[in-house]
Amino acid sequence: MKSCDFLIIGSGIAGLTAAYSLSDFGSVTVLSKGGLDENNSGLAQGGIAAVRSADDRFKKHIQDTLIAGAKHNRRKAVKFLVKEAPKAIELLQEVGVRFAETPHLEGGHSLPRVWHTGDRTGNSIIQALLKVVRKKKSVTLLAHHEAIELIVKNNRCCGAFIAPSLSLSRAESRGGEGAGGEFLSPFTLLATGGFGQLYGRTTNAAPATGDGLVLALKAGLKLKDLEFIQFHPTALNVHGKGNRYFLISEALRGFGAKVVNRRGEEFLFRVHPNGSLAPRDVVTRAIFFEEERGPVFLDLRHLDPRELRQEFPTISEALKRHRLDPAKHLIPITPVEHYSCGGVPTGLSGETELPGLYAIGEVACTGVQGANRLASNSLLEGVVFAQSAAKDIQKKIKNKKTRPPESALSHAEGKGGRGVCHPAIRASAVAYQKALQKIREIMWENVGIVRTKESLKEAEEEISQIQLKDDRIQGYKALCLEIIHACLARKKSLGAHFMS
Ligand code: FAD
Ligand code: SIN
Repeated sequence: MKSCDFLIIGSGIAGLTAAYSLSDFGSVTVLSKGGLDENNSGLAQGGIAAVRSADDRFKKHIQDTLIAGAKHNRRKAVKFLVKEAPKAIELLQEVGVRFAETPHLEGGHSLPRVWHTGDRTGNSIIQALLKVVRKKKSVTLLAHHEAIELIVKNNRCCGAFIAPSLSLSRAESRGGEGAGGEFLSPFTLLATGGFGQLYGRTTNAAPATGDGLVLALKAGLKLKDLEFIQFHPTALNVHGKGNRYFLISEALRGFGAKVVNRRGEEFLFRVHPNGSLAPRDVVTRAIFFEEERGPVFLDLRHLDPRELRQEFPTISEALKRHRLDPAKHLIPITPVEHYSCGGVPTGLSGETELPGLYAIGEVACTGVQGANRLASNSLLEGVVFAQSAAKDIQKKIKNKKTRPPESALSHAEGKGGRGVCHPAIRASAVAYQKALQKIREIMWENVGIVRTKESLKEAEEEISQIQLKDDRIQGYKALCLEIIHACLARKKSLGAHFMS
């Protein structure tokens, strides 16, 4: 049995910001199912939205967020997010992120307010945060450690059962190598990100299998707004192995790239006055329907090649790897799963309905994203709500409202005994991959960009038939059924949820 003052499950922007903000108040353990920088945050290209220019106003950022979110947003949360945004940028600057002086423009924003480090913003942020938390003696970072169940006692979350992931890399962990089993903590923060990896086509990193949502479900929590799944319109359509697609940032459209069909027509103007810079759900659906007539491309040929390489080095390198010359070739694009707007419901403090459990970042449903997230509001949500959760926890400690967790040993004993890993049921790697692949196909085909009652019913039936004896697969199955039921319950289209 191990314990710490704050157990953070996830080392993306939300988890690491919380670790940094809590590191002066007690011992912090951060778990990461994959490598410490193997997460969606590290992949982020476009940047982080905040009002910081003389001609911008909080009111405009609030309005843009509400319009993108189809006004399904929680207004109080949106106001909070937008007003805290400049402070979030300051925190990131404090840990060493050097943002470019001029912000980018992205779809749905009424003016440029996306702060970036070229197209490597996520990586710059994660590396800076890792650097500072690594220096903190109070912080233990455990890469390749997976939370498999929350420990709940007397209606309070007291920590989690954890297991080393298969590819445990000791080199990446600091302190507590080989740790596994019961991990007790008075405060547990879910920062596990989204579930793109349950889809056949996604921009998401390998660990994004919705584990936090599965943990919350198992602990008896209800999830919210799961039907609002965002599909990014411009993934590079030169697909190799697996379900991961390389993202071409929306900021490139803000820079002048145009979405065109095979006849070179900017067909997006037919559906929205902002054309290529319309909100993401509008662009995605228009591309999806246009693809029925033929391939869709990004046209970069009119852009200055030198400026392009300078502003978008990651994208330029990826195009080169695929022998695409932006000065000569049209760039094939297609929409793929990108982001979950829903999740574990929380208030502004990040605390869930289960005392002692917080949810921050993409796993949470704070209500800021509504039915469709505004571009570059997600990194922002991660920082703002991680700080808010840290403040709430500090307040609770100060008021001595929370006692250290009682030993959850009695709970553990029935499941493997003291200090022994909860015996998770694991199928063979081949059977696991096969079942996961099946889930991905079903979700992509039937619970994708355009849904029908029939496709959802079919998905429900096919997912229910997956019987593999493996805790992970059973967890994904439970989550997919929740998503499907949320889609079925919302009969009319709204934001990213589109019923044909
Ligand atoms: P993540 O960064 O995904 O981190 C999740 C962490 O949880 C990982 O460390 C993972 O290992 C860990 N984890 C998961 N399950 C477990 C488990 N069972 N046990 C232990 N650890 C676990 N948003 C923007 O605002 N701006 C952008 O420019 C932008 N670009 C993007 C580009 C791409 C390619 C992608 C995929 C997303 C982009 N997004 C962007 C969205 C944004 O990056 C994510 O929503 C955000 O980074 C999520 O942060 P997070 O901390 O909640 O989760
Ligand atoms: C992008 O760079 O297009 C992604 C931005 C986001 O997901 O907010």
